[in-house]
Amino acid sequence: MNADESVHLEQLMFVDDPMEPNEPRVHPAWLPPEAFRSLGARRVLVHGDGLLVDTVLHEVSRACARYGGRVWHSPSWDVDVDLVFALRGADESPSSAVRAARSAGEVALTEIGDGASLGDEGFLLARDGDVTVVLADAPAGLLYGLFHVVRLCAAAFDPERPPERHRPALRRRMLDHWDNVAVHPVMGQVERGYAGGSIFWRDGRPRGDLARIREYGRLLAASGVNAISVNNVNVARTEALLLTDRLGDVAEIADVLRPYHIRVHLSVTFAAPVVLGGLSTADPLDEGVRAWWAATTRTVYDRIPDFGGYVVKADSEGQPGPFTYGRDHADGANMLAEALAPLGGVVHWRAFVYNHHQDWRDRSTDRARAAYDHFAPLDGRFRTNVVVQVKFGPVDFQTREPVSPVIAAMPATRIAVELQVTQEYTGQQRHVCHLGPWWSEVLRFAPWGPDGRALADVAAGESGVGGGLVAVANVGDDLFWTGHPLAQANLYTFGRLAWDPRRDPTAVLDEWITLTFPPSATADPDLVRRALHEIMDDSWRTYERYTAPLGVGFMVNPGDHYGPGVDGYEYTRWGTYHFADRDGVGVDRTRASGTGFTGQYPPYWAEAYESLETCPDELLLFFHHVPYGHVLHSGSTVIQHIYDTHFAGVEEVTAMRRRWLTLNGMIDPAVYERVAERLDEQVRCATEWRDQINTYFYRKSGVPDERGRDIY
Ligand code: GCU
Repeated sequence: MNADESVHLEQLMFVDDPMEPNEPRVHPAWLPPEAFRSLGARRVLVHGDGLLVDTVLHEVSRACARYGGRVWHSPSWDVDVDLVFALRGADESPSSAVRAARSAGEVALTEIGDGASLGDEGFLLARDGDVTVVLADAPAGLLYGLFHVVRLCAAAFDPERPPERHRPALRRRMLDHWDNVAVHPVMGQVERGYAGGSIFWRDGRPRGDLARIREYGRLLAASGVNAISVNNVNVARTEALLLTDRLGDVAEIADVLRPYHIRVHLSVTFAAPVVLGGLSTADPLDEGVRAWWAATTRTVYDRIPDFGGYVVKADSEGQPGPFTYGRDHADGANMLAEALAPLGGVVHWRAFVYNHHQDWRDRSTDRARAAYDHFAPLDGRFRTNVVVQVKFGPVDFQTREPVSPVIAAMPATRIAVELQVTQEYTGQQRHVCHLGPWWSEVLRFAPWGPDGRALADVAAGESGVGGGLVAVANVGDDLFWTGHPLAQANLYTFGRLAWDPRRDPTAVLDEWITLTFPPSATADPDLVRRALHEIMDDSWRTYERYTAPLGVGFMVNPGDHYGPGVDGYEYTRWGTYHFADRDGVGVDRTRASGTGFTGQYPPYWAEAYESLETCPDELLLFFHHVPYGHVLHSGSTVIQHIYDTHFAGVEEVTAMRRRWLTLNGMIDPAVYERVAERLDEQVRCATEWRDQINTYFYRKSGVPDERGRDIY
């Protein structure tokens, strides 16, 4: 082979790559150039065609240009290679390397057994002599295979590595951006956003930084995410126009994300036929309304052929919906589904529906019951391209909640489980709160009892047709994407758990650490790794310790939801109360004497939660109102538990900060400084939480701390 014949793709492909000249313009998160060192030093052959194969080529070329490797695209001559990416169905190749790789891959697949299919997104990684082979049925599989090789670093070239097949457990792995196009007077540019402005929108217009969006798509693809919605579920006037007049702005985003296999969805207002179409009604059973949605949706697909579909928050917190017309959620969702079905789209219809004008004096209404009461009776009525999107807990993304009973109550409905990566209630990206262990617990929860299916199985659905996993995104136009650099790990972990909900979250975090702080560019990688694990592994539980106790939830400042506000919501209309008095605390949700919420669970958990004997400590106050002297399974009383955990929480945060200081000089100073600053705030805020909670309960109960610590 003649050196001049090697394809200098790097030169061809980087010409118009705005990320190249001045990188890094933003923090590279889990894809720093160094993470590509191992791949980029190899001789790589890519075989196959199409947009996503071009992306693979681009990535490999970029890495090889930097680290001295070579890349060929379907060469018509023989080359010696270390790594082959090949589509199984691509044309026969004259290159013996491709032929050898393919047949080795087929043998490996047969050995793995369980059918030979890799699916739309799966891939096989195997060794053939000195060559690493990545095979896929579809181009997306090659893209995911590429990022797998990046994650593995040198291990991808280990001669002893056994073959592995990877396919995502969930088909749709989606992020919902609560980004506003126009700045909302209260919620700002990004609702519940803690990382600056939006990467998509600014002051009523597109932000115009397509390179940044492209970089985002790349990060998401490397974590496994394959869908996003680009605007807030609360759809105001300007945002409504994305469906029609401003569709071009959405198409532009879709064009940029398409090479990373990410489909774009749009949040729409149910009132669109009225506010955009000039109709007098948005009644889902009205023929004119249906025709409007059908025509509008066709226009969307003309512009964005791979458009994902609509996300809808209807009859919830003031958003319009079918109730206005005496119709129910199935009527509303099915109308949109009918418009989308011929074009291959889905409706994500949110189940976050409750009475947000509750009277706090009324003890019979229970916000936790609402989603089930509204949706469970509709099971079986939704069209097959409707996904009912259910928040993982029955209230609202709290640090600790039971799993929503709706998820187990609708066997004839496609269910998506919704998580919150943006840390609205978990420290707002000022606090380290690594959510992987929490999500993992949620996804592994078995609503029918320990031997039954898990939540992740419901989201996956029978034969893979479930609604998938969705999360509210946490990025903004901040230099570090997520405000707190360590909050990047939450985004990464979401994607990886959506791909495989059974993965150990600590292993995922470890993966994130290796990518983000590559050992080859870190002075003492073991020390950095140990410190990050010590700081992050248990940080969600630490956060839980110094905030609202035992699953009672809220106790945050109203409005911005940051910092302690023990009675902040106690006398409001939002339905989130703790009922603390001089004798005890907690919400009685039992069937025997409370709101009956426990009865919404299948029998195993209905019984377990109903009884004080079996209700898990961490959820005690979610389900029961108990005296302060009630003894937990842990042996501690409720009041002493409150004191102990709050003192412990602050000690842990102080230790986290101390640990972080040991990394001074070991990592990127900008990351170091930003995290150090935020840890100072976390210590301050945790201390405030501790003192307010402890003082509140001491004053209510009159019971002193048995260890005599400072309570005010
Ligand atoms: C929470 C959040 C709101 C958001 C809502 C939702 O209540 O505070 O800002 O609009 O969830 O999920 O729709």
